Amino acid sequence: MIEIKNLSKSFDSLIVLDKVNFCIDEGNLVVVLGPSGTGKSVLLKSMLGLLPVDDGEVFFDGKSIQAAREREVYEIRKQVGFVFQGTALFDSMNVAENISLPLREHTAMSSKEIMERVCHLLEVVGMAGKAGQYPESLSGGMKRLVAMARALALKPKYLFYDEPTTGLDPIMTDKVVDLMKDLKSRYANSGIVVTHDLQTARAVGDQIYMLKRGRINKLTKIEKELYD
Ligand SMILES: Nc1ncnc2c1ncn2[C@@H]1O[C@H](COP(=O)(O)OP(=O)(O)OP(=O)(O)O)[C@@H](O)[C@H]1O
Ligand SMILES: [Mg+2]
Repeated sequence: MIEIKNLSKSFDSLIVLDKVNFCIDEGNLVVVLGPSGTGKSVLLKSMLGLLPVDDGEVFFDGKSIQAAREREVYEIRKQVGFVFQGTALFDSMNVAENISLPLREHTAMSSKEIMERVCHLLEVVGMAGKAGQYPESLSGGMKRLVAMARALALKPKYLFYDEPTTGLDPIMTDKVVDLMKDLKSRYANSGIVVTHDLQTARAVGDQIYMLKRGRINKLTKIEKELYD
């Protein structure tokens, strides 16, 4: 379970998060909706301690990441698979090398074990046989799938998605959404999805919140209809 308590973050006079409170229960995917520039990426980075916050805390299974020592922060982050906005794949590495990066950094697995895991992950995301390709030869949607495979490499308890379907055509959007649902039921991952896309929010969200002017509110049924 992840609890976000009174999280606040400003950049000079710009208030991005203003006492944000919500919870991610076990097995739930929470969606935070908001237009561009509202602070969705700042929220995700703040939750992982990648950005220092001004106030508030984020508790992972009762442990505050803000109060944690460096070593504990590192242990918490290992439980989180992060699908970054725009994928953040390394262009100089092929698909297999990109996916195996966290395994090489954080585990003592042999090259053979790593390759087996990479092949398995590629199958899970529907990209079997693409291990040797370089990111530049992949479509935006395919890159997103590879980024998802990389996020899964360390068998995370939680998944964080930053704009997973932005910029994708409807077919690829459906594919990514189906995979997100599939991963959740297969591994019972909990997590958070930030997006400005209501269709994606509706398709994957167990709870939907709206981030607006630093404040977060649960989207009611009526608001969901109005948003259409
Ligand atoms: N490191 C930073 N220094 C100063 N301002 C920042 C920094 N990071 C983000 N901001 C500002 O905080 C606000 C929220 O940014 P953020 O990237 O979280 O938006 P977003 O909701 O993710 O937008 P998008 O949908 O375009 O990805 C923006 O006004 C942005 O300019
Ligand atoms: Mg963003």
